Amino acid sequence: MSWIDSDEHLGDIVLTEEQIHERVHELGAQITKDYAGRSPLLIGVLKGAFVFITDLARSIDLPVSVDFMAVSSYGSATKTSGVVRIIKDLDIDLTDQDVIVVEDIVESGLTLNYLVRNLRSRKPQSLAICTLLRKEGEQHSAIQVDYVGFAIPPTFVVGYGLDTAERYRNLPFISNYRV
Ligand code: IMP
Ligand code: MG
Repeated sequence: MSWIDSDEHLGDIVLTEEQIHERVHELGAQITKDYAGRSPLLIGVLKGAFVFITDLARSIDLPVSVDFMAVSSYGSATKTSGVVRIIKDLDIDLTDQDVIVVEDIVESGLTLNYLVRNLRSRKPQSLAICTLLRKEGEQHSAIQVDYVGFAIPPTFVVGYGLDTAERYRNLPFISNYRV
């Protein structure tokens, strides 16, 4: 028996390892088609996207580059405020790059909105957004997301990179989290 089975906070599995695997490969195939002949730069938003971006990058049959940014949003553990601080900036210059921002989850879109405005000011050739999860329901800021893995109900989830207080990122599936 694994620690997962006896963890009282883990609720129903929202997405199994197989479902995620299949969908990530579909996203990779779509990006491969859409960016044919180009070499996109994947920008992973740390830390949540670290699992997704490794699987996604290997599902794209193009010569991609990978870079990371770490941001911290002021606010409580489960709500974002939209005020974002850059903790780790990119190493790569974005001028003339085909950028794909890779996120774990978009809820209000506030974090992403800030990031995208910041990245656009660096004059990339193009900028697209790819998120594994998008929470359904009221979106505070209308943000156009180009690639969405799954739309999920607005409950708190963990696993496959997503955490609560830095835990559960290594779950191979995505599970509801009960306080
Ligand atoms: P937004 O700015 O409201 O879109 O919030 C996005 C960020 O909040 C994500 O990058 C996550 O770090 C965090 N977040 C939102 N919902 C969840 C969740 O259900 N589980 C874990 N983290 C979440
Ligand atoms: Mg987080």
